[in-house]
Amino acid sequence: MRTVARAHDLRALVDDARAIGSRVGFVPTMGYFHAGHRSLMRAARAENDFVVVSLFVNPLQFGPTEDLSAYPSDLDRDSAAAEAEGVDVLFTPTTEEIYPRPIVTTVHVDGLTNGLCGRSRPTHFDGVTTVVAKLFSMVGPCRAYFGRKDAQQLAVVRRMAEDLDLPVEVIGCPLVREPDGLAMSSRNAYLEPDDRRAAAILSRALHEAAAEVANGERDADSVHRVLTGLIATEPRVQLDYAEVVDAHDLTPVTKITGDVLVAVAANVGRGRLIDNMTVSVGPHSVDVDLGVVARETERV
Ligand code: PAF
Repeated sequence: MRTVARAHDLRALVDDARAIGSRVGFVPTMGYFHAGHRSLMRAARAENDFVVVSLFVNPLQFGPTEDLSAYPSDLDRDSAAAEAEGVDVLFTPTTEEIYPRPIVTTVHVDGLTNGLCGRSRPTHFDGVTTVVAKLFSMVGPCRAYFGRKDAQQLAVVRRMAEDLDLPVEVIGCPLVREPDGLAMSSRNAYLEPDDRRAAAILSRALHEAAAEVANGERDADSVHRVLTGLIATEPRVQLDYAEVVDAHDLTPVTKITGDVLVAVAANVGRGRLIDNMTVSVGPHSVDVDLGVVARETERV
C-alpha cells in the first residue's frame, strides 16, 4: 500500500493503474476505521483491480458548534487496517491540500438535503458534496462505495454524481452493526459506558418498528409512535428526529408502501448518532433491510 498526501501523487498513481486497464474502486472516509469502513474496502477490493481510500476529516461539513476538533483519529491503526484489506493507495491529504485557499465554489444538492439531518445540520451536506466532488475529481472514473448507515448522504451523493455527469458509479453497501445492534460509527468512540448502553435503544426501536411493518402496519404515524415511544424510555438519548420517508426522494410519507426509509437521529452524551432501516413493501412481500451485524473477527 502506498500512502500519499498530495493530490498530484494520487492522480499519478490512479492514472498509471487505469493506463494498464485497472478498474478503480474508491472509498472516501474520515478515518478512525471500524468494521463498517472495512466492509466498504472489502467490497471495493472484491469488485475492482485498484483500490483507493481517502482519509480526510473535512472541516467544511462540520457546523461551528460540532465536533471537528474532537473527531477521533488514529492514523497508524487506520493504515494497518487499510493495508490488511488490500488497499492500494491511502490518500491522507492535509486541509491545505484540499482547500489551498478559501473556497468560493461549493456543490449544493437541493431538496434531498432539506429534511432529516439537513434540518439540524443546515451546512453539512454542502460540505459533504463539495469535498466528495473534489475527491471524485482527484480519483477520476471509478466505483465509489458509501455505507447505507448514512442513507441521506448516499442519496445526495448519488444525485450529485448523476446531475453533474461525474464518471463515478456510486454504490451503497450494508449498514454494519455492533452485536447489540448499535450502528457502527466513529462517533461511538465518544460514548461513556452508560451512554453506550443507552444508545442501543435506537436499533431496538427500529427492530420493533420493523416487526410492526412485517405484521402488516402500513400507517407511517403508527410506526413513528413506536419509534418515539421506545426511544423516550431512555432518558440519556435525546431524539433529534424519527422519520418515515420515501427512500428515493426522502419526502415524508403517510402510508408505508414501495421503498421507505425509516430514519432516526439522536444526541447521546457527546455524540450525535444516526440509524435507519429500509422497508420495501410490494403487493405480496415485505423486505426489511436493517443491515448486518459485524462478526467478532471483523470488529476493530
Ligand atoms: O461519510 C463520511 O465519512 C464523510 O461524510 C465523507 C463521505 C468521507 C465526506 O467527508
